[in-house]
Amino acid sequence: MCGIVGFTGAQQAAPLLLEGLKKLEYRGYDSAGVAVLGDGTIRVEKVSGKVQKLCEKTLDGAAVPGTAGIGHTRWATHGAPTDNNAHPHLSNDGRWAVVHNGIIENYAALREELIAKGFPFHSETDTEVIVHLLEYYDSGDMKTTVMKTVARLEGSYALGVLCADRPGTLFAVREASPLILGVGVGENYFASDVTALVSYTKNAVYLDDGEFAELTPEGITVYDCSGRRMEKAISRITWDVEAAEKGGYEHFMLKEIMEQPRALKAAVEPRVRDGEIVLDGVELTAEQLKGIRRVVITACGSAYHAGCVGRYIMEELCRIPVEAEVASELRYRNPLIGEDTLVIVISQSGETADTIAALKECKERGARTLAVVNVVGSTVAKLADDVLYTWAGPEIAVATTKGYTTQVAVLSLLSVYMARKLERIDDDRYRELVSGIRSLPERCQRSIDLNTHVAYLAKRYHNNSSLFFIGRNLDYAACLEASLKLKEISYIHSEAYAAGELKHGTIALIEEGRLVVALCCYEALFDKLASNIKEVKARGAKVMAVVQEGNRRIFAEADDVLFAPVVDPLLIAITEIVPLQLFAYYVAKENGCDIDKPKNLAKSVTVE
Ligand code: F6R
Repeated sequence: MCGIVGFTGAQQAAPLLLEGLKKLEYRGYDSAGVAVLGDGTIRVEKVSGKVQKLCEKTLDGAAVPGTAGIGHTRWATHGAPTDNNAHPHLSNDGRWAVVHNGIIENYAALREELIAKGFPFHSETDTEVIVHLLEYYDSGDMKTTVMKTVARLEGSYALGVLCADRPGTLFAVREASPLILGVGVGENYFASDVTALVSYTKNAVYLDDGEFAELTPEGITVYDCSGRRMEKAISRITWDVEAAEKGGYEHFMLKEIMEQPRALKAAVEPRVRDGEIVLDGVELTAEQLKGIRRVVITACGSAYHAGCVGRYIMEELCRIPVEAEVASELRYRNPLIGEDTLVIVISQSGETADTIAALKECKERGARTLAVVNVVGSTVAKLADDVLYTWAGPEIAVATTKGYTTQVAVLSLLSVYMARKLERIDDDRYRELVSGIRSLPERCQRSIDLNTHVAYLAKRYHNNSSLFFIGRNLDYAACLEASLKLKEISYIHSEAYAAGELKHGTIALIEEGRLVVALCCYEALFDKLASNIKEVKARGAKVMAVVQEGNRRIFAEADDVLFAPVVDPLLIAITEIVPLQLFAYYVAKENGCDIDKPKNLAKSVTVE
């Protein structure tokens, strides 16, 4: 949602805060601001628009002198993205500044109370109540004041607090929103995620919900919610600086598409030893697995789409019922989940509010929970019983690519592993699938290499105002993601349809020139798809097909063809999504869209 940063040390704070905000901009980018403490005065600069505008306004930070400060990049929830609503917010007496990621659910009542006490408000945000509470409870002791304030807040928040009376001191508070402390030498930091920290330090402390920290140049002290000092372990950040930068690519999305072979290798290779799948983060025994009667996969957006792919693979191999459901529905519908259910949650960020809520709900109902997650130390990773990291590295583009394919790869590994433990797969098929999964990095590279003409096809079709993706079985599951990719970055309407469903109503929308993208890699159903292609072509549609390399029959059916290399039928979703990610990317580029930061979206959706 929003990104927050904080710095205290001997250097000028503002240039470092601005650099950090640039790294966090993928989390929200409709306004940005910094507050810096210099000569006993807090100076706030904020703008609606991107961080670059703030850099220009502050002369890259030079106009805001001081060695301690906090910064924010916003994805608006309460109040439009205006200068006034941008963070940091300053108290009326100018002694307190705050940045906030999350939502204060009881802000309306607090606002009313504070107005009655004589505190004028200057924005429409929920956050502003926090600075006024800080001023109201100001006791001369920063820690006590912060604690009294936080005790009044309901909702989710990661806060950064600066006080004019305590030069060099920052407070950082975490409750259901990500917050990481960076441990430096003679300087310390906090940030919403490690990408903003890796340029400065590789040593991090992960705060848990209810904890807060006091940062000075000399050190960091962490407290629990009752104010008792705590010992926290320092973790090593494994992501490097280059991974969080564009590395010569025009957009992060293109870089991340191209990184997929490497990401898949990181996800798969360490988990296959001497031909056997070894899942380090999974402690489920064969006995426990045999007691599982049902698997429920839950997630949001693309992670849910990865779950839809996983559902086909897992049910096919394990022969137990597997369902996939979006987390925002599962959490509110009193689901039949109990001790005999394995709940698999999938999340790139590990901080998606709906996914976390669904995970908690399922845990309360006694389910065994397993997380497929990318960000180490994230909330989902902490909450689940078992964790499988996807090891995709930082994903900066809002539209996920390597996040999705590594999720599918890990789910494939898990499915084969479970089938083996459940004795539902014979040795030959096991070996075949393990070797198929191991070949995915190289197959994915081939998917990239086979489709150099995709930019040309994007030029041909970028003016279509609405299109369909059709497929059956795993091709259909891949359609869901292909359609979302196009929609979210190019703003062109599209629908993913089970090819057999078209005739039940939707075919009325197929008219002259409408583009239909037919995913035809699931060879066992190719003839069925060929009939569906004929149906839409008979109504004037243009068809762009995605087929496995070597499929010559498609040339008689489709107008244009994209290719995926031959893989095991259960693994097609990974190889065939790659040309469609590229198609979405080039269509958006043709249409002049802001590819890495699509309008109104944010990468990590930490609010409901
Ligand atoms: C789409 C996209 C989103 C996310 C969704 C869940 O490209 O990135 O649909 O997949 O918001 O996010 P995570 O995986 O972080 O839980």
